[in-house]
Amino acid sequence: MNKIFTVSILGCGSRGREAYGKNFYLLKDKFKIECLCDINPKQIDLAKKAWDIPDENCFLSPEEFLKEKRSDALVIANQDRDHVDVCIRALELGYDVLLEKPITPIEEDLYRLLEAQKKYGGKVVVCHVLRYAPAFVKIKEILNTGKIGKVVCIDWIEQVAYWHQAHSFVRGNWHSEEETSPMILAKCCHDLDLLQYYADSKCDTVYSVGDVSFFKPENKPEGASDRCQTCKYINDCVYSAERLYCAKRDYDFDRLEPLTKEKDDERKQGWPFNVVDLSRPITDESIRKAYESSNYGKCVFEADNDVVDNQTVVMKFENGITANLVMTGFTQFPGRKMTFHGTHGEVEMDEENDYIRISVYGKGTEFLSVKELMRDALKEDFGHGGGDVMLVRDFYKALCGEELETSLERSIESHLMGLAAEKSRKSGNACKVHKE
Ligand SMILES: NC(=O)c1ccc[n+]([C@@H]2O[C@H](COP(=O)([O-])OP(=O)(O)OC[C@H]3O[C@@H](n4cnc5c(N)ncnc54)[C@H](O)[C@@H]3O)[C@@H](O)[C@H]2O)c1
Repeated sequence: MNKIFTVSILGCGSRGREAYGKNFYLLKDKFKIECLCDINPKQIDLAKKAWDIPDENCFLSPEEFLKEKRSDALVIANQDRDHVDVCIRALELGYDVLLEKPITPIEEDLYRLLEAQKKYGGKVVVCHVLRYAPAFVKIKEILNTGKIGKVVCIDWIEQVAYWHQAHSFVRGNWHSEEETSPMILAKCCHDLDLLQYYADSKCDTVYSVGDVSFFKPENKPEGASDRCQTCKYINDCVYSAERLYCAKRDYDFDRLEPLTKEKDDERKQGWPFNVVDLSRPITDESIRKAYESSNYGKCVFEADNDVVDNQTVVMKFENGITANLVMTGFTQFPGRKMTFHGTHGEVEMDEENDYIRISVYGKGTEFLSVKELMRDALKEDFGHGGGDVMLVRDFYKALCGEELETSLERSIESHLMGLAAEKSRKSGNACKVHKE
């Protein structure tokens, strides 16, 4: 029989509850959710009810929760800047940890955590979920076959989507670098991690440009209000909270799939709606009330945001491979597109248009379907192309003593790339990723 590991969750919000907790709960032959900790009683309440956790195992005080070890493993899914202190304390208590990304936007904290892990010896698995998503795993397998020869350069775009940019990075948790992280870590942590993984090399130098190009006061339309509910453009502005969260839609946010009224209502119970509104079930009235009294109803041109809405990073890896990463909030659909240009062929992946193209020069082209590759994972959970549930499954393997594809050191590499890119963007100079 399988060993069942007990797991506690600190930070029971969107990720802690919906991405991990939900999957731990479903994998009953592998995990038992033991304790919950969150400073927001509403979040605790939702998780407690969903998984039937007794009151005495629910903590509103992280200090109280962290007084002793309460389970085999701990999920840390609070906000970016608070991860490291909690993780070090958890390692000290003897936990194995599933740690949300970004680990931290503070460089010294990366090293502090690495030292603590060496000292206390627990496992720290960073939630670079795309490493576990089947289509992204397939790309690595294709590159490893050598079919396209030696990879020379990589062209990569992270399409954030206009509504996700407005929701998370203009109005939401990640609108302020000081409160959470710079955009390149908040949104592109996975891209940087995958780039160094696919390049199979550490990154040497980066150069980056980017800025807040659109979501700023000078672009506010004439006569617009500072909140959507009192704005004359409430029904016309594409970024209007009323349009994003309440309007009936006949297509999904994520893709051009027709939505019936029933599907639209069902869709509105999930992300991003369930972040704006913590009532259940979510109704047009409840979500309207929620945006009207929170940051989610602020005018996107006056939201006190400082994280960029577009950024390009040019990279040179130690093995000579070059890459460019474009992150932009100005896209219709979310998803990644990338091409690996090799000496003997190309591999291209386009998540939204659902294909991986493998071309071998002079020989022909083969296509794979991204959705088909994700099929088995998607039976369980959609998050991150099946990556969320696959990560939870691999975390189980890690707890059983198996080595995973990635380590804390490798995860830290992608953070060093992001921090160097941010330094470059601000200084205008190319920056080395590692100290000389
Ligand atoms: N792996 C991914 O792809 C991915 C995607 C989105 C977000 N994230 C990361 O996941 C983390 C959580 O993001 P989220 O979207 O769930 O945000 P969220 O705001 O929905 O959830 C965070 C939760 O932490 C709680 N919290 C805050 N401070 C706390 C503390 N000191 N102790 C205990 N609980 C505390 C909040 O009340 C909230 O419920 C962030 O670091 C974010 O950057 C990762």
